[in-house]
Amino acid sequence: MDQKTKDRIDYLRSHLHEQNHRYYVLNDPLISDMEFDMLMHELQDLEKANPDYTDPNSPTQRVGSDVTMAFSQVTHTRPMLSLGNTYNEGEVADFYNRIVKEVGHDVDIVCELKFDGTSISLKYENGELVQAATRGDGTHGDDVTRNAKTIHSIPLKLKGDYPAELEMRGEVLMPHKAFETLNQQRADIGEAPFANPRNAASGSLKLQSSLQAAQRQLDCILYYVLTDDMEFALHSEGLEKAKEWGFKMSEAYRVCHNLNEIYDYIHLWAEKRKELPFDIDGIVFKVDNLSIQRDLGFTAKSPRWAISYKFKAEQAHSRINAITYQVGRTGVITPVANMDPMQLAGTVVRRASLHNADVIAALDIHEGDTVVVEKGGEIIPKIVGVDLDKRLPNAKPVEFPSICPECGTPLERVPGEAAHFCPNQSSCRPQITGRIIHFVARKAMNIDSLGEETIELMYSNGLLNDPADLYTLTASQLLSLPKIQDKTAENILRGIEESKNVPYQRLLFAIGIRFVGETTAKKLAEAFPNIDALRNASFEQLMTAEEVGEKIARSILNFFSDEKNINLIERLRSYGLQMVAEEKKLLTNSLNGKTFVISGTFIAYGRDELKALIEAHGGKMLSGVSSKTNYLVAGANMGPAKLEKAQKLGVTIISEEQITEMIENGEHN
Ligand code: IVH
Repeated sequence: MDQKTKDRIDYLRSHLHEQNHRYYVLNDPLISDMEFDMLMHELQDLEKANPDYTDPNSPTQRVGSDVTMAFSQVTHTRPMLSLGNTYNEGEVADFYNRIVKEVGHDVDIVCELKFDGTSISLKYENGELVQAATRGDGTHGDDVTRNAKTIHSIPLKLKGDYPAELEMRGEVLMPHKAFETLNQQRADIGEAPFANPRNAASGSLKLQSSLQAAQRQLDCILYYVLTDDMEFALHSEGLEKAKEWGFKMSEAYRVCHNLNEIYDYIHLWAEKRKELPFDIDGIVFKVDNLSIQRDLGFTAKSPRWAISYKFKAEQAHSRINAITYQVGRTGVITPVANMDPMQLAGTVVRRASLHNADVIAALDIHEGDTVVVEKGGEIIPKIVGVDLDKRLPNAKPVEFPSICPECGTPLERVPGEAAHFCPNQSSCRPQITGRIIHFVARKAMNIDSLGEETIELMYSNGLLNDPADLYTLTASQLLSLPKIQDKTAENILRGIEESKNVPYQRLLFAIGIRFVGETTAKKLAEAFPNIDALRNASFEQLMTAEEVGEKIARSILNFFSDEKNINLIERLRSYGLQMVAEEKKLLTNSLNGKTFVISGTFIAYGRDELKALIEAHGGKMLSGVSSKTNYLVAGANMGPAKLEKAQKLGVTIISEEQITEMIENGEHN
């Protein structure tokens, strides 16, 4: 490589680091996105053409890679402790007064936001990011360097007069906007949404593909500087210094000189948190003076010089206008409270599930009651109580209906179950359309050309009464419906035709046997490789299948004892749907007849990869260690309980290298 190219690469690397910092940390970009992208492409091309001149911290590393890798474990140089919690101002005062008493004079306290994400440790050597690790159990964490590099606010190289060895601790967050986009994308592809940005952030940081992690728009705010190579007198001084080195530090901290200032800070952020683009779940208080911090020291679990104050879950009061009763595809009735719209933790809430009659009784809800609605870390609002002062005179307790709100059939309740249900499976509208909607869902038969509205329309026009009717639909029938034109009809019919190739395990999920979810359906398809085997299985045989307990076994027997279901299956069979499991092509028979459980993390394989490998060579995966287990494949950091159980049961414990040897030495096809 000539000197000119080398200079150009060096220039681009440092220029792009600087622009990245301006954009993602300072929020003050100097160049346009287009210019940035052009320079990034130029650097990517130059690096590709000169592969010897590598730099693991080049700005190009932020795009991630689709090579999936298991995480190795790291031991934290200093344990990552947690913080003691307080829940009211009295407990904060106790903390403050205890310290003042111990020290003998007033102390300054740094108040910071308690970011609600997942904690991270970042290590730098001579200004280069060398390692990023999760907290793990506080002593050992996962090495997530590859994923952390894709987070733009984490500097890959430091600026200014940084210490030679440095560890920074902070929080990886998912901002609200990124969280909403992610959950929308997941909903679009039929995946379960994350419950809150905290779970989304930690899930994203642990993705095996850094290319995917790069798309999650994570952010990282640091709050703790650890180094032996530079002396500071104050924690707040470290925060300011870290900003100069290029880290994203919160501007919201404040040095407080007494309890009143501390209270003011709590009150300020209890309100202002609503304006933040990410979640915080409280405030953290830290002694500012580092020599006092050292004197106070640590308990086994947390520092004595810091404590957190957790916000209470946000609450709002609102009046119930009506309780509606939704009928699900299995006939279960769910009561829903419809309330005057209220603003709660960033969203407008109008409805909340009341789950079942027991919950209504426990809350003692009366008609027209004003209820207390809470939204904590979770996204789903919950009714937690009734404001009795606002109860209307003569209000009557809410009575659970005795007949189905949709079809008028008397409701039933299975002893021991909380739910009421409508037994009229064959002619109760939402049950029929619900079953068809479930049947076509992405994770079931995946007929995505058919939306809920179209299904409702077809039902009302007498074209559909059960999922098998889909396979008798004709173009002229579809075209007779309002709003359906040639192209749409064609797409619908093509989607239905293609669904005939959907594998048997998905069909088992699609037919909607109560309590048989996607995973159970998969396990059932493995244990009973065709629908007749499943239909003829006894209770005892069903119970031997993985994931199947008494409740599921009874539900399966119940399903196949109903003539209508048998009739449905026979019709689906006659239209050519898959009723037999695809034969798994085995690579070898080396592990035939042997059962395995894996635990911990592995070096050469991801957990799913290792499972697939075992199955591809004829082994059978079990979910937990039991007397049926032959081998436990032990990875790094496996749970001690599992190990102990395996040893007690005499299960052979092997390493990932040993399993590879077993495969290589075993019987080949
Ligand atoms: S200081 C030794 N400061 O809260 C003290 N933690 O239970 C180290 N957190 O695991 C923690 N915001 O993930 C500190 N401003 C902040 C924080 C913060 C959020 C998290 C952190 C820690 C947990 C404490």
